[in-house]
Amino acid sequence: MNDRLLKACRLEPVEPTPVWLMRQAGRYMAEYRRLREKYGILQIIKTPELAVEVTLQPINAFDLDAAIIFADILPPLEAMGLSLEFIRGEGPVIHNPLRSAADVAALSVPDPRESLSFTMQAIRLVQRELAGRLPLIGFSGAPFTLASYAIEGGATRSFVLTKSLMYKQSEAWHGLMDKLTTMVSDYLKAQAEAGAQVLQLFDSWAGALSPADYRRYVLPYSRRVIQTARSSGAPVIHFGTGTSGMLETIKEAGSDVIGVDWRVSLADARRRLGDDVAIQGNLDPVALFAPLPELERHVADILSQAGGRPGHIFNLGHGILPQTPVEHVAALVDMVHDISTS
Ligand code: CP3
Repeated sequence: MNDRLLKACRLEPVEPTPVWLMRQAGRYMAEYRRLREKYGILQIIKTPELAVEVTLQPINAFDLDAAIIFADILPPLEAMGLSLEFIRGEGPVIHNPLRSAADVAALSVPDPRESLSFTMQAIRLVQRELAGRLPLIGFSGAPFTLASYAIEGGATRSFVLTKSLMYKQSEAWHGLMDKLTTMVSDYLKAQAEAGAQVLQLFDSWAGALSPADYRRYVLPYSRRVIQTARSSGAPVIHFGTGTSGMLETIKEAGSDVIGVDWRVSLADARRRLGDDVAIQGNLDPVALFAPLPELERHVADILSQAGGRPGHIFNLGHGILPQTPVEHVAALVDMVHDISTS
């Protein structure tokens, strides 16, 4: 069993440094694009055999230290009653976004073991295929990031609708966050029960908030999710982007690992977070487009900032981009392992 990832989560010394990549299954791989010619993304996610196939594609192609179950952060919103569609070239759209207290009251909080059973089944099947070779990561969107999709109806730059509901309709906001927290907590627990050994909470858009708003409107909910998820025994990685202004606050949510993007240096993140939490990150995904010697300088720099101290998981600072050259991904994984071996 390759247990590098688990050791790094537990702050145990490990060599070489474990590496996996957010969105490691996806369109930059020809195998994935071929499958996508035949099936929509939701169809792949909801057909356990296909989800298993896609989960295994990157770990068969590269020397990664973990698999991540193929799913998305948005199906739980569909299970709660929102109408979700992925539109080619546009991304996710929610056709009936939440705008009022009545919309929030109408949301259901179904048992993920039933409403998202396809993902639990995919986890069980992947575990059979992996046969203990590599750990499997389960994941969920965090309440704030999910709330933003549910309220905006899709991606947003300004978060005007999300923050307006937060500021103006306090009861609806807290009611929504409470429901999402219950859903996400159960979902992560169910994934651990199905066999996921590590859980990642994606709060991709947390950095859109001021530290004070994060503390007031989001932190209590993320803390509750993490507490419940950790009670399953699996370590939790808490990921966000643009969070360099509130790392200390994010630490209060209580995860085992904190994911940071490239807008903060790893050394700075370590200084501010202390030695009692692991850190995941933080290569700029666009560095994968650089010539290999330049990519290698970036990798060496991150590893030197990690300084060989326990508790570093190498990853990108955000998901891998669809146009990424696949040979550079292979090279990156090998560079991380080679440079971090003394
Ligand atoms: O990491 C993995 O390999 C597991 C699979 C995974 C997907 N989405 C599959 C996917 C994971 C972990 C996610 C997380 C996710 N999904 C996040 C959080 C991470 C982040 O990037 O911030 C978010 C915000 C989403 C929502 C989402 N899903 C968007 C905005 C889009 C469209 C944008 C895009 O990249 O096309 C998706 C679609 C999606 N989810 C794709 C994949 C592989 C691409 C869709 C396709 O095949 O057409």
